[in-house]
Amino acid sequence: MAQIDVLVVGSGGREHALVWKIAQSDRVGRVYCAPGNGGTAFESKTENVAIGVGEFEKLSQFAIEKKCGLVVIGPDNPLADGIVDHMEQHGLKVFGPRKESARLEASKSHAKEKMTELGIPTARFEAFKDKLKALEFAKANEWARVVKDDGLALGKGVVVCDTASEVEAALERMLTPQADSLVVVEEKLVGEELSLFLIIDGKDSLTLAASQDHKRRLDGDKGPNTGGMGAYSPVPLYEANKKAIDEKVVAPIVNALADGRLKYKGVLFIGIMMADGIPYVLEFNARFGDPETQAILPRLKSDIVPLLLASVEGTLPSVSLEWDSRFSCCVVACADNYPEGSSKGKPITIGTLPSDTYLFQAGTAVNNEVVTTNGGRVLSIVALDDDPQLAQAKAYQALRNVSFEGMDYRKDIAWRVATKCHSR
Ligand code: AMP
Ligand code: GLY
Repeated sequence: MAQIDVLVVGSGGREHALVWKIAQSDRVGRVYCAPGNGGTAFESKTENVAIGVGEFEKLSQFAIEKKCGLVVIGPDNPLADGIVDHMEQHGLKVFGPRKESARLEASKSHAKEKMTELGIPTARFEAFKDKLKALEFAKANEWARVVKDDGLALGKGVVVCDTASEVEAALERMLTPQADSLVVVEEKLVGEELSLFLIIDGKDSLTLAASQDHKRRLDGDKGPNTGGMGAYSPVPLYEANKKAIDEKVVAPIVNALADGRLKYKGVLFIGIMMADGIPYVLEFNARFGDPETQAILPRLKSDIVPLLLASVEGTLPSVSLEWDSRFSCCVVACADNYPEGSSKGKPITIGTLPSDTYLFQAGTAVNNEVVTTNGGRVLSIVALDDDPQLAQAKAYQALRNVSFEGMDYRKDIAWRVATKCHSR
């Protein structure tokens, strides 16, 4: 079988995990990662390329020059800005949704309207440009206590409030007179969340292993929302509610793909909250989650490349996936000032990792062969075990082999399946 070269666009932990998995494929010759990070720089078959994720024409020319048979887009911003449309116009095969489809992530109000149109359960909501009208709405409806910036905000554009005055403060911050911004004010739900990724080829959909992210910065799910401090997979909550999720969320999406009400290819990330047995969709993302991807890819036994190609080529029914039944636990190590700040230029010491553990780098750079910090979420450690408690213990044990100045992490990742809290 002829091999193909692959270009992965992005520089986070998600992209390191994708590169790592793609490089294992017999069907792949070389992997390029633009711009990549300190982890992708040392991955087998892989080379970092100094082109930014927003430089669509340079990325296209690079992929053409290297005759890449597949381009995989990691982050949300280039998708929202139309990287897939741009590269497809150059005749490239690109995994990811086009600009119009990526609006499911880029505009929360559009996503909510789509959910309503397709009959997918979601929190009651209204969209506002006007601060006073938004506040009136929140005051009149005691259930309306969540304020969401309409656009992309790195996981920081959602404020979950208790009182109308907290809503007012959030509106004050988001609806500034300078910006032509929009907010969604929605019902506050109470329940447990999970992340579900559907691979879609325009007509058909394949559901990947479910995972659960830990969005809050501090132990006990306290503190501000972040991009994600850790994740685990599989998720008992998903297994227990699979029937309802398939019927109320996945089936309406598949039906809408069939009758043309939804146009989509790539990965659709569905953030679900189970409340009173109903799967409410909190958000759609047009990309793989981070750190969920790091938690699920070590569990994927099958080659990922035929899956990604099938999404691009519209041949998804020809693909079946095999999963490792073991639990994975992924712990993110971040800068102590994250999410407000980040770390730059601090050398990272990486020792030998035990078996069945994986290190995926995120905010790192490499200078003269030395890996240094270069971001808020710096790296993630993933461990696998039949027993979720042992997977958790292994991940924290492995984390002892890694250090950088100001390193911090949550001590209770996967607590729902593994009950232990790990101190340093
Ligand atoms: P989102 O970016 O929309 O997923 O929101 C980020 C986080 O805010 C979610 O993971 C939830 O923890 C929380 N959240 C979002 N929407 C709601 C809601 N309607 N009710 C309660 N919490 C929510
Ligand atoms: N971990 C959540 C996200 O990727 O948006």
